[in-house]
Amino acid sequence: MRTSQPQTIYLSDYKVPAYLVDTVDLRFELFEDGARVHSTLAIRRNPDSQESAPPLELDGDSLVLESVALDGTALSESDYENRGEQLVIRSVPERFSLSVVTWIEPQNNTRLEGLYKSSGMFCTQCEAEGFRCITFFPDRPDVMARFRTRIEADQKAYPVLLSNGNDVDRGELDDGRHFMTWEDPFPKPCYLFALVAGDLVEKRDTFTTCSGRDIDLRMYVEPRNAEKCDHAMDSLKRSMRWDEEVYGREYDLDIFMIVAVDDFNMGAMENKGLNIFNSSCVLASQETATDMAFQRIEAIVAHEYFHNWSGNRVTCRDWFQLSLKEGFTVFRDSQFSADMGSPTVKRIEDVTLLRTAQFAEDGGPMAHPVRPASYMEISNFYTLTIYEKGAEVVRMIHTLLGPELFRKGSDLYFQRHDGQAVTTDDFVRAMEDASGRDLSQFRLWYEQAGTPMLTVSDEFDEGQGVYRLTIEQTIPDTPGQTNKKPQHIPFALGLLGSDGQPLPLRLASDEAEAPTERVLELTEGVHTFEFHDIPSEPVPSLLRHFSAPVRVRYPWTREQLLFLMNHDPDGFNRWDAGQRLAVDVIQRLIGSPDDAAIDPRLVEAYRKLITDTDLDQALVAKMLQLPSEAYLIELAESADVPAIHRARERVLEHLAEALRDDLVACYQRQQETGPYEVTPAAIARRSLRNTALGWLLMINDDEGRALAVRQLNEADNMTDRMGALRALVNSDYEADRRQALDDFYDRFRDDPQVVEQWFSVQAASDRAGQLSDIEQLLAHPAFDWKNPNKIRSVIGSFAGQNLAAFHNPDGSGYRFLADQVCRLDDSNPQIAARLVTPLTRWRKFAPAYSSQMQSALERIRDKDGLSRDVYEVVHKSLA
Ligand code: ARG
Ligand code: ZN
Repeated sequence: MRTSQPQTIYLSDYKVPAYLVDTVDLRFELFEDGARVHSTLAIRRNPDSQESAPPLELDGDSLVLESVALDGTALSESDYENRGEQLVIRSVPERFSLSVVTWIEPQNNTRLEGLYKSSGMFCTQCEAEGFRCITFFPDRPDVMARFRTRIEADQKAYPVLLSNGNDVDRGELDDGRHFMTWEDPFPKPCYLFALVAGDLVEKRDTFTTCSGRDIDLRMYVEPRNAEKCDHAMDSLKRSMRWDEEVYGREYDLDIFMIVAVDDFNMGAMENKGLNIFNSSCVLASQETATDMAFQRIEAIVAHEYFHNWSGNRVTCRDWFQLSLKEGFTVFRDSQFSADMGSPTVKRIEDVTLLRTAQFAEDGGPMAHPVRPASYMEISNFYTLTIYEKGAEVVRMIHTLLGPELFRKGSDLYFQRHDGQAVTTDDFVRAMEDASGRDLSQFRLWYEQAGTPMLTVSDEFDEGQGVYRLTIEQTIPDTPGQTNKKPQHIPFALGLLGSDGQPLPLRLASDEAEAPTERVLELTEGVHTFEFHDIPSEPVPSLLRHFSAPVRVRYPWTREQLLFLMNHDPDGFNRWDAGQRLAVDVIQRLIGSPDDAAIDPRLVEAYRKLITDTDLDQALVAKMLQLPSEAYLIELAESADVPAIHRARERVLEHLAEALRDDLVACYQRQQETGPYEVTPAAIARRSLRNTALGWLLMINDDEGRALAVRQLNEADNMTDRMGALRALVNSDYEADRRQALDDFYDRFRDDPQVVEQWFSVQAASDRAGQLSDIEQLLAHPAFDWKNPNKIRSVIGSFAGQNLAAFHNPDGSGYRFLADQVCRLDDSNPQIAARLVTPLTRWRKFAPAYSSQMQSALERIRDKDGLSRDVYEVVHKSLA
């Protein structure tokens, strides 16, 4: 608990560690009422440190110190200073061994940082600063040591004892206890340490690497989850092969382990050789997981596996460099997912997340650069900017260099920095050195926060056949940053002729062979490009594939957007044109009378999507999704959420009524014939069917209702079951909704991952998720205040997805969220700080809303003993 005002930590204060740790010898005695941790560190002065005879300072948090010994001699309390958060020894030799014994209480650890218990098993989460909750240690990623770990526990209750590396010893002890010893040959920062002890079943497989080594693959889960491992195991093998083929990266230990735990603050963690996952991000079966969950699991398994090189073998020097591993690894997992499924669909999903949530973050009070310059609590910086914008920055390097030079760059990076803790600048330098390109201006992407705005204008000179495109770049101010310099932006584009054909892009009149797509490089505030031999006024297809994380402003007409929807060879921009058109139609309706006309061309465009079976069905499934409320809010100047919600619903209802027969036909056509498969085609089929069903129920169509009830009863997979349940939950058929929810709960009450989906579908629904319903869900026997997934599925879904209910004009949604944040602040500050996010955007909303959101933030600010996590978010939001 915080006792004084939290300190700000600055990148500019970085100093190399005064002491290094070569080896760590750990012995854990695990008991029901606590754990004793014996640690012996081989420490030496860092030759690179300038300080003369500095004190030894070790980090600690919530530790009971039992003893300290230096080179085998016990120290008395006058030899060291235990400041609680630091253990300081004033004078130490150049090289020595330090033994520390601490007592901790994992069973009472509700913060889920360090060593804690989840459904009866012991597990750890050490990133970013959890290792200091286990023992005193220089808890910073640039101190890398070799770990040896002995775990002792009751044999019956904890038959499985795991840590990083290879198992080197095991045996029985007195009193029904046993032990196991693990050794990790690779030096690593302590944030990659992991320990697991529990009664778990083991699933085994093997993988033969490119050099012919056999790797033992093991998954450990609670017995009831034994049948939910196959998908993750297959995903792991695909990831291992892919990283060899695409990045030349081979796995380096003999064992690779995955453990599933129910209580976990984040998605998963890449601990060396022992990845620990949130159950919801790894366990799947046809009956219990949706297509989206299958895809998410594949991506997260890949992400954590890829960290073995981008994060573990080459790690971060300090936490300001977090995107070095996270941005690069997200880029790698998105390339992987694109290769496993539909690249266009994957791009659409990534951009949707970026444009709704990351752009909002980058335009709000918590905006920070991809490489931040300061922070109070590092846990607050596991953000969309670090992860998603960071991945976009790496993607732009890939675009600028091309795949071959990029691969040369990544090879050089891994080879040059293997075993080191480095910076984002080292990454960029490797890319420069391998390619010969100058990325000095490009580095601004790491330093400047805020989403660049590109304002595009054009003119066509018919007489000369010249098309002129002018692009102006501006970067908005963000907290602590004004007057930004222009950034280096790769801007991919094409031009379409009046017949829909792509035109050659001739930048000089004598250019012979010109491509039909180019990547222009923007480096100045304003650029004008001239394209020659253009026969008639073209339609520009701008920022293809979303080649940079920027906003584009261009005065598109609805005709142009419809034209691009039909003709753009870039699938991403076809989708984006549809989104822009729908945004335009919805925005025009916000606050206008209920009989205001909806553009019939939108209806016809959607009819074509639903009825034309020659189109790529995976893309169609995406194009049918109207822009979300969250995205419409992001685009608004001063958002009135209930008005946005109503306008969007009116468009949906209008489309559903006009296309009613086509929707029924589409639903019938997409009926499944063969067995359940998770392929892009099958996923698209299910998505189309469930979209059609949802639309039919929006307009209270009785045939739709019958189809939904039948689908719910006959579904052999969770995607269809959830599709039908969601449609009913969001309909006016109240009796069916109640019945469907009760039946669903009875069927799945013993499966926490499904119960979480059941909570979420209600909490996110404007029909079933009014505040009084939410309060009932919190009182439900399956709700658990100690389980982050349950908190996210009820409170997170309400505040993050059920936007019309959350933004109730009476302010009740905001007060409710503030109360829950205060309640959680004591038990789990990381989760509490995450939940504040919707309130941090208060300045985005119309005055009637924003003033009440501000009061809710003040209510949190005034709570006694606020955690550092919540303190930082609330104070920065109100500043
Ligand atoms: N490194 C993990 C990942 O794969 C995330 C860990 C986040 N931990 C935290 N305390 N915020 O992305
Ligand atoms: Zn990661």
